[in-house]
Amino acid sequence: MTKAFEPEIVAFCCHYCAYTAADMAGSKRLSYPANVKIIRVPCTGKVDPIHIMKALHKGADGVYVAGCLEGDCHFKTGNIRAAHRVRRVQALLEEIGWDSRRVEMITMSAGMGERFAQTAREFTEKIRELGPSPVSRAGQEAGRQAVS
Ligand code: FES
Repeated sequence: MTKAFEPEIVAFCCHYCAYTAADMAGSKRLSYPANVKIIRVPCTGKVDPIHIMKALHKGADGVYVAGCLEGDCHFKTGNIRAAHRVRRVQALLEEIGWDSRRVEMITMSAGMGERFAQTAREFTEKIRELGPSPVSRAGQEAGRQAVS
């Protein structure tokens, strides 16, 4: 029997908003998929395209960058820079034949625990529908060949 696909998701979360929203979701006991692995960053402006590409290269099926609402970045324009970088990574993915929906920029405030949980659920579901990324699919096939 084949195992159902469970996507690996990496979420780069700004310390001041999305990470705090994740905390709030936890304290409100709002459930969200365990598929989402959170990486706390001081500001989404610190997330470089290489970080996103490295996460995908290491087998993440989807990556999102979650920052402060527009105008609320503690470092003024970090979230705007991050959104620009995410668009560049999406364009790069399209160029190499990947679905650019595997990478997304999301904004929220620290008080939006529900939005955090909902985003994690919706993004996970979207990636589940897209299926494994080409890298993770190759890893799964290599694993199957090693077993057989
Ligand atoms: Fe949150 Fe910059 S401090 S995105």
